[in-house]
Amino acid sequence: MDPLAEAALRARENAHAPFSKFKVGAALEDISGSIHTGCNVENATYGLTVCAERVAVFKAISEGARKFRRIAIAADTGLLTPPCGACRQILWEFCGDIELILVNLQGATEKFQLANLFPRPFDASFL
Ligand code: THU
Repeated sequence: MDPLAEAALRARENAHAPFSKFKVGAALEDISGSIHTGCNVENATYGLTVCAERVAVFKAISEGARKFRRIAIAADTGLLTPPCGACRQILWEFCGDIELILVNLQGATEKFQLANLFPRPFDASFL
């Protein structure tokens, strides 16, 4: 399996999802080849929950990474789990038209370009 998908599956094991029980992992590869991982971190107020993808992006940014190649997203679903709308906006902001690899626990994978999942985005070019 692609090492990035494996990293997302491993990151999923750290998910803090006591409310939904829906565990997600993400692994974001920067242009130097370093991998920044994330998992969803839920909160008792529900609305403060942060998705795995945003944790991975914010960790990477906070560590000084700025350009990214690919992101893998892992969840335990037959129909592979795509990023939510909020995460698509954040991914567009920091990663542009990045390649996404969706993976599940059986090792099924699917690839997308973000521009296809998130057409006509609002971004800094409008400001
Ligand atoms: N979640 C993610 O972390 N990423 C996704 O792509 C979909 C949803 C999380 C948020 C929440 O903790 C749980 O999955 C159920 O929505």
